[in-house]
This record gives sequence, structure tokens and C-alpha cells, in this order.
Amino acid sequence: MTPYHVPVMLKETIELLSIDPNGIYVDVTYGGGGHSREILSRLEGGKLIAFDQDADAKRNLLEDERLEFVASNFAFIESALEAQQIKGVDGIIADLGISSHQIDTAERGFSYRFDAPLDMRMNTSEGITAAEILNTYEESELYRIFKVYGELPNAKKVQHLVVERRASEEIRTTGQLENILQSAIPHKRRAKFLAQVYQALRIEVNQEMEALEKLLLASLNILKPGGRFVVMAYHSLEDRMVKNFFRSGNLAGKVEKDFYGNDLSPWKKITRKAIQASQLEIDENNRARSARLRAVERK
Ligand SMILES: C[S@@+](CC[C@H](N)C(=O)[O-])C[C@H]1O[C@@H](n2cnc3c(N)ncnc32)[C@H](O)[C@@H]1O
Repeated sequence: MTPYHVPVMLKETIELLSIDPNGIYVDVTYGGGGHSREILSRLEGGKLIAFDQDADAKRNLLEDERLEFVASNFAFIESALEAQQIKGVDGIIADLGISSHQIDTAERGFSYRFDAPLDMRMNTSEGITAAEILNTYEESELYRIFKVYGELPNAKKVQHLVVERRASEEIRTTGQLENILQSAIPHKRRAKFLAQVYQALRIEVNQEMEALEKLLLASLNILKPGGRFVVMAYHSLEDRMVKNFFRSGNLAGKVEKDFYGNDLSPWKKITRKAIQASQLEIDENNRARSARLRAVERK
């Protein structure tokens, strides 16, 4: 049986969290529980709260009374912790994006490797699907998604092909989408191109940038002084947002200074620049290739 997900940079992330055995930690992207398991193994009297918006993540929930699972989008972290009367936490870990389980489950529609309905929702009980986006979004919105989220140089052409085809048929499946995009697919870069198209749609379906913004802003209110925030991003847009926020404490990345020129950022830097997985790890787990790991400490 293939594993649900192989955790990326496990040793590095756990070291950066600098775990207090009696502290309260939050894993906002539980997935297969790889990072959560490691955190639990270092806790004594402490507690771990884990979030995942995908109901499948609950299937491999670790049996541990110190673990509390919240089936929710991490955008709601602040109110979810409040509901549990938790006022401050000692560490947060976010391993963004989707799990191998999600990509490898054909009917979820996350992968161009299978012919399946274009769904791509992490939370299958709400929100709109990738098919609905392709069939209903304004042309300019489609262009923005392919250009900004997919970083596709030929975003205009992709948008045009989609709009042209949907006038005569409803776009429903991954197979259909590849067929529609045939003339935009570069000969030697099919896999990369399709991965970018899928990334773009997935980010929009799950409103990933908006959720990350909310998580980042909430972290300021949740972390105790000395608490650590460790994030792994898998595409440049996400990583840039994290980098700016970790530098300044705001989404614009603007560092505020006091009268004397002292940096007023609420964060102390723990990683000077993004940490990447070792070649050894990448050889064993290709998903680690694009991971960028950053960490800060609340002042
Ligand atoms: C890369 S996987 C995490 C893998 C996990 N660290 C492990 O080692 O098993 C990301 C997980 O986070 C979940 N996720 C992504 N964005 C989320 C969000 N905004 N709210 C809640 N869960 C989210 C996905 O459903 C997925 O299961």
C-alpha cells in the first residue's frame, strides 16, 4: 500500500519548532499526520491541535489523547482555538498545498495522470469545483488564474482555448481539458505545463492564497512570545507571501521602524533564507523538490 503522504523535511521542521514538552502546538495541515506524529513524540504534558479541511485526513488520525483534530479550514484558526479556550500557543506548523493521497486519488481530479471529473476541492462538502470555474468564470478572471497562479507564459492562449470550447460543450473531465489544451502544450514540457494548469485551478478552487493570508495574520494573535511559526511552501507565490510576512509582520512586506530606526517587526528571524530539502531527500521523495521552509519566532 502506498503511504498517505511522506512528510517533507521532517527533521528540519521539528528542530525549528524547538518543542517544549509541555507546550501547546498546532499542525494546521495534518494530512497523513507525519509532522503531527513527530511533534507528539516530543510532548509530555503538552497538547497538539491539528487542522485539515479534507475529511480523508481523519482516516489516519493518530490515537493519542493529547491530540485534538479540527476538521476545518485553517483560515478559521483563531475562532477554533478560542472555542477551545486556548489563548496562546507555543508553535504552529504549516505544510501547505495538497497531500500525495489527494493527488493520487483519481476521482478527486487533482491530477492530469487520470481521466476524472475536474473537482480539485480539498473540502468536498463545499465550494466550487474546477469544472465550474472553467465553465463559468469571466475570460479576464481565467487569464488571471492561469497567469498569476499557474505562472503560464501562454496564459492568454490557454484562456482562449477554454472559452472557445466551452461555447459548444461543458468542460467536465481532466481528459477533456487536456484535449482542449492540446495546441498550447509545449512538445517537450507536457508534464510541467499541465502541472502548472492544475496548480492554477487548484489554488483558485481552494482559495489557497486567501486562506494563507488569514492564517498569517491570525498567527500574530495566537503565538505566545517566544512561540515559533514554521511554514513550508511549494510555489513561489506562496513563498513570497510568507517571506514578506516573516520579514515585516504585514502582508505588504513593509518593515516599520521606530524613531530611532529600530525594526518594529513582530518576528525574530530563525531562518535567514528559505531552507531546501537535501538532494538525498529529493531523490527519495520528488515532492520535496519544490519545498521552501521558513521559520520565525514571535517577539
Ligand atoms: C502537504 S499536506 C500535509 C502533509 C502532512 N504534513 C504530513 O506529513 O502528512 C497538506 C494538507 O493540508 C490540508 N490543507 C491545505 N490547505 C488547508 C487549509 N486551508 N485548511 C485546512 N487544511 C488544509 C490538505 O487537505 C492536506 O491534507
